[in-house]
Amino acid sequence: NWTMENFIDTEIQRIRQLVGPTAEVIGAVSGGVDSTVASKLMTEAIGDRFHALLVDNGVLRLNEAAIVKQTLCDGLGINLTVVDASDEFLDKLKGVTDPEKKRKIIGNTFIHVFEREAAKIKPKDGKEIEFLLQGTLYPDVIESISFKGPSQTIKTHHNVGGLLEDMKLKLIEPLRELFKDEVRHLGELLGIPHDLVWRHPFPGPGIAIRVLGEVTRSQVEIARKADHIYIEEIKKAGLYNKISQAFACLLPVKSVGVMGDQRTYEQVIALRAIETSDFMTADWFPFDHDFLKKVASRIVNEVDGVARVTYDITSKPPATVEWE
Ligand code: XMP
Repeated sequence: NWTMENFIDTEIQRIRQLVGPTAEVIGAVSGGVDSTVASKLMTEAIGDRFHALLVDNGVLRLNEAAIVKQTLCDGLGINLTVVDASDEFLDKLKGVTDPEKKRKIIGNTFIHVFEREAAKIKPKDGKEIEFLLQGTLYPDVIESISFKGPSQTIKTHHNVGGLLEDMKLKLIEPLRELFKDEVRHLGELLGIPHDLVWRHPFPGPGIAIRVLGEVTRSQVEIARKADHIYIEEIKKAGLYNKISQAFACLLPVKSVGVMGDQRTYEQVIALRAIETSDFMTADWFPFDHDFLKKVASRIVNEVDGVARVTYDITSKPPATVEWE
């Protein structure tokens, strides 16, 4: 009979058989639940012959690289290397305002950096890395079979075809028969911290598509700080698990305000929070007014460069979840 406990045992055996007694495996982690669960499973199966790589692309959440390092390395015993490639990504994003171009640049730079950094990881006995771990879920498998056309560009970071060919790697996808709720259950059983297991999804292009217009280090910093305050307040209010996804966007417009007796002229933050079962349609979350008031006041007071906060009350459709 099929239980998650059985699944873990069978999958660990299957991985061991597939990889054999000496081969090495590499995989990218993002700080999200899928890649963390896949990495933990791999670590249970083959220990340090699995190499996890976190590429800091400069558009991750506040302190994300350090938090992932702590949770995965220190907490879960995963053999993780963090690569700070933020300058490289932000250089390539200079002057770019088109959302799809941002996605392409981040996707391509990711593949480039991953290949380069993977080549630096040399297994002890001089062997090459043979396998690539992917945290692909069943819905991703279905999506990549059934969708052709523009929607293919949506998940550029899932496009690992290049890595497989250039690096001559074989693919391992231990989660490819599971749905999201099953992956979460699996994560709990593997001892992954509750907060990580229940984390909201975060797009591959990250804060680059939440800084509208040109992405610069200082704009990313503003968006990041505002987002952090917003999520912190959502958690404090006990609302995090009632919301499917929440984040702050930094708008490329300035607005007049007043602080003390000074006139200010600074940017605008838009807050988004949605409830959805499948992300194809979504409703905006009905926060109470006191909550919104508190978040707005904290953001304007604590984040330099922001003078006004708005709340997005558009459903999907016609709006998308992300602003770009
Ligand atoms: P939209 O904006 O299309 O978002 O309504 C639906 C879900 O997809 C996520 N999203 C992305 N995820 N790369 C990703 O990995 C992307 O380019 C991307 N664009 C949107 C979005 O965060 C939401 O969960």
